[in-house]
Amino acid sequence: MCGIVGYIGDQEAYPILIKGLHRLEYRGYDSAGISLINAQGTLSVYKAKGKVSALEKSVEGKDVSGTIGIAHTRWATHGEPNATNAHPHFSQSKNLSLVHNGIIENYKALRTELEKNGMTFCSETDTEVLVQLVEYMMNTHRCDLYTAVQLALKNVIGAYAIAILEKSHPDQLVCARKGSPLIIGVGTTSSGRKEFYLGSDATPIIEYTNQVIYLNDEEIAIMDRTGRLDITNLSNVKQTPQLVTLQMNLDQLEKGGYPHFMLKEIWEQPNALRTCIRGRLNVVDKDVLLSGIIDHKDKFINCRRIIICACGTSWHSALIGKYFIEEACQIPVEVEYASEFRYRNPVIRPDDVVIAVSQSGETADTLAAIQLAKEHGAFLYGICNVIGSSIARATHTGTYLHVGPEIGVASTKAFTGQVITLCLLGLAIAKEKKSIPEDLFHLLVDELQKIPDKMQWTLENNKDIDKFAQMFTYCKNFIYLGRGYNYPVALEGALKLKEISYIHAEGYPAAEMKHGPIALIDEEMPVVVIAPKRGMYEKVVSNIQEIKSRKGKIISVVTEGDEVVKNMSDYSFVIPDTRDCFVPLLAVIPLQLLSYYVAISKGRNVDQPRNLAKSVTVE
Ligand code: G6P
Repeated sequence: MCGIVGYIGDQEAYPILIKGLHRLEYRGYDSAGISLINAQGTLSVYKAKGKVSALEKSVEGKDVSGTIGIAHTRWATHGEPNATNAHPHFSQSKNLSLVHNGIIENYKALRTELEKNGMTFCSETDTEVLVQLVEYMMNTHRCDLYTAVQLALKNVIGAYAIAILEKSHPDQLVCARKGSPLIIGVGTTSSGRKEFYLGSDATPIIEYTNQVIYLNDEEIAIMDRTGRLDITNLSNVKQTPQLVTLQMNLDQLEKGGYPHFMLKEIWEQPNALRTCIRGRLNVVDKDVLLSGIIDHKDKFINCRRIIICACGTSWHSALIGKYFIEEACQIPVEVEYASEFRYRNPVIRPDDVVIAVSQSGETADTLAAIQLAKEHGAFLYGICNVIGSSIARATHTGTYLHVGPEIGVASTKAFTGQVITLCLLGLAIAKEKKSIPEDLFHLLVDELQKIPDKMQWTLENNKDIDKFAQMFTYCKNFIYLGRGYNYPVALEGALKLKEISYIHAEGYPAAEMKHGPIALIDEEMPVVVIAPKRGMYEKVVSNIQEIKSRKGKIISVVTEGDEVVKNMSDYSFVIPDTRDCFVPLLAVIPLQLLSYYVAISKGRNVDQPRNLAKSVTVE
């Protein structure tokens, strides 16, 4: 949800900023812009509607020199996506340029006030208000940029990560954050001085340095060419920067020969999950080791219930987690849309454990939900993929997915990573609570260990989905059905199709079909049924009969060797047998591939579907 890049040092800034924007493009891609100060002290701003490549084209032949700059890729909130509303925004005198990620909630009131004081605006954005406010503070308080930013931000309600250039001080870069992420990378120039990089996440930085500082809420930083980095809070109290070493490599950010990140990430799942369970699942000793649970086992043994807050795909994995934890641990689990939870005055008690599930660790609603839970004294557990992310830092403890950076906007490996992590969590709590028999615990540990190999098998044995998917290029609707553990898989399958192919799709618990959706079924309607030969198999078979007798097209996910459902279906995907609770980890794979290939056959941009962004840092 908007990406920010910045640089100050000895190198030419433009190539660093453009490469960084490409890496951050998953956060927003409706417009992009860049601001530089050249050796003559000219502060320029270039902006273009569309992708970063459109910006690159638009600056051809223009002066993009300079060793200091900021850049932005936008996901529109206030004002339509066009070059005027794109960032960076100039202040009235054009002495300042600013990029922003987040939402300034009181921007209207601030704008009215500034207009009364003679300031004029070019765009409809909340961001322009911010840069004008900073300039207004500089003028009225006759102070420097840093102080003006502090004063301005004290008047601001909302979320922000910002970076600012000042024409009259071309040797310094100022940035600040609250609610939206911002990372400072610290590198070394050829002359041995420090140089600084800025990024909404680590992906634009890792190429140059692995030494980073995660800016905290309400912190402002100033960096200059002498290598000075000062951080204070809004009240001007000096903060000590904590330098962290990034554990990430560049290969993880490249497509590695695949046409899209999404396909790469689908195929990466077996290895990603091996990394996720490494050191946590011990088949020799039949043990599960999650330090977050071991260190806080009393919280889990004594809690009255667990509440899981999440959004989007993460909400679907949370639902699978609920089924597993309730079954294994005998603890009631509620799964909440974070956006609803945060505003509906929920009952939260100190003996509740609240788990936030979030790939990015930055989703604004999920972050707000756990902040609310914290105020009520609940114990907070984070399940995130992005290391050092806001949710990971705001929770008391947690577990990282360790599935590597996920770049494709439609989540795939993070979903299976979340599901397996929630299963590990359930097993770890069950062990402490002794809530399942030991032999069952051992069986589950053994089976979970086999899942990555079974995922690999699933990928290898469904290779013709690409040809099959073309049949659905012109379909307008899809229904996805599943029962028990596979109901959330139906939801996730439908979401994947909607997100990247723009075909309308609904996921339902299979038995609910007769309470409404069955009216939609005719020979035009493809119905994807997850029908493994496990619990409720016979019941799902009956549901398939009901669809068939109404001439619906059946696409099924079946267990290898099951000829019954296969023969009833127009098309089948096969998965190996596994325990009910782990079927989602396999069944979702053909559904991910189906959505991918349907989207490809429709000519969609699967990695950057329209209107979506990977990291939703606004509510
Ligand atoms: C966006 C993404 C989804 C994701 C959701 C929650 O909508 O496009 O893929 O599931 O946000 O994101 P989180 O980072 O909290 O898992």
